[in-house]
Order: sequence, then structure tokens, then C-alpha cells
Amino acid sequence: MESNIKLITDDGLRLDGRALNEMRPIKIQTGVVEKADGSAYIEWGANKIIAAVYVREAYPKHAQNIDRAIVKARYNMSGYSVEERKRPGPDRRTMEISKVITEALESTIVLEKLPRAEVDVFIQVLEADAGTRIASLTTASVAVADAGVPMRDLVVGCTAGKADGKMVLDLSKDEDNFGEADIPMAILPRTKKIVLLQLDGKVSQEEFDEATSMMMNAIPRISEIQRNALMSKYNVEEGE
Ligand code: CDP
Repeated sequence: MESNIKLITDDGLRLDGRALNEMRPIKIQTGVVEKADGSAYIEWGANKIIAAVYVREAYPKHAQNIDRAIVKARYNMSGYSVEERKRPGPDRRTMEISKVITEALESTIVLEKLPRAEVDVFIQVLEADAGTRIASLTTASVAVADAGVPMRDLVVGCTAGKADGKMVLDLSKDEDNFGEADIPMAILPRTKKIVLLQLDGKVSQEEFDEATSMMMNAIPRISEIQRNALMSKYNVEEGE
């Protein structure tokens, strides 16, 4: 949606004071849902999201894959998580986000190590403030690892986009609403394989390249926060 709202101030900063390539603060904590096999909670800027993972034999039996696991991620936004109360229950956006998160997780879980199993990933958005799909995926992948599910790598998500003609990292709510483009992306850092890439809006090839390179630069920092969250559960310092 375009509008006349000024998103970049005269001193080149964004409305929340960030530089163009600056992320919002991110915190991740594991083991937050006792009854789940694995769980993680993320605060990414003002987003607050919980992911809980349950691993079980797929049911009914005819739904099982004899040689690999089924993954089902369900993204759900609480009614009170947004300014204008969201009607409960699935809608097109919720179904789309659940699908892209499921596909991204399938690309990193070693499915053949868990024949006949179902990996259920429940994602609950408690507060939403732009970028919930990539924050959900980032925390869901930590929750899957926390559940002990074999994975090739942790998925790391990020967004970049265009606001007031400038490319910016990690869109704020205003930039998401009133900017010219929003590009959520998620990768497996070890191989740099892209497992989610969407584009809402319009950008040139050069702008797209600038957005992806901003995100690629941010990814190691997000990876580190994920790893620290997993290791702090075992009180292990990185490098040990
Ligand atoms: O959250 P994400 O950026 O991945 O998805 P989006 O569809 O681009 O939504 C952008 C933002 O709009 C969300 O993060 C929410 O803050 C907000 N939103 C809302 O206020 N009400 C909804 N029903 C859906 C989204």
C-alpha cells in the first residue's frame, strides 16, 4: 500500500530511529512449553511468538509415510495480537503462512530418519508487529531442534523491503503497511539454500539484489541468537 507517510527522516533514519540496515532486537528462549517435546519463544522487535513441537506416530495409520516423517506447521494469530481484533480461525493468509513455514521446515528436517512419524509445529502469535512469518519460522526451527528432531541446519528468516525509495532491513509495521515492497526470505545458512522467498510489491533487479545482500549479512547474527538459545538450555558456552 503506498501513501504519503514519510518513512525515512531527513537525517536518513527510519521512524523508529534505526539505520537502513539495522535489525530490531531479537531474543529467543527454549523449553517454554513443558508438555511439548520442544518449544521456543521469540521476541523480535514487538513481535511475540511461541512455537511448540510434538513428535508422534502419524494417525490415522493410512496417513503415515512408511519411509519418512510428515511435517505439519500451523501458524495462528491470536485475536488480540493485532490492533484490529483478528477473527479467530484459519483464513487465507494463515493457511498460506502455515504452508510456506511447513515447506521450509521440511527442507531441513531429515525426514527419512523418522519413518511413520508426524512432526506437529504449533505456532501462536501473541503480538504481531510485521515480519511474523519469518520470526515464526526462525523460532519454530529452534523448537524443532529443541525437540531433538534431526535437522540439516536451523532455518533463519529475515525481511527486507523498500520504504521511501530506499532499501531497508527488517521492516517495521509502518514500512510493511506503507512501504513499496516487502521481501521475506529464509535460508539454511550452512549451504545458503533459500527455503522461503516471497515478494509483495515492486522492486528492480538492483534493489532486489541489495535486499538479499542486506539479509545475507544479517543472517549470521540471527543464527548466533538461535544457537545461543539452544545451548543455554544445556548451560554450554559456545565453542565448548
Ligand atoms: O507478519 P508478516 O509480515 O509475515 O505478514 P503480513 O501479511 O505481511 O502482515 C504484516 C503485519 O500486518 C503483521 O505482522 C501484523 O502486524 C499485521 N496484520 C494485522 O494487523 N492484522 C492481520 N489480520 C494480519 C496482519
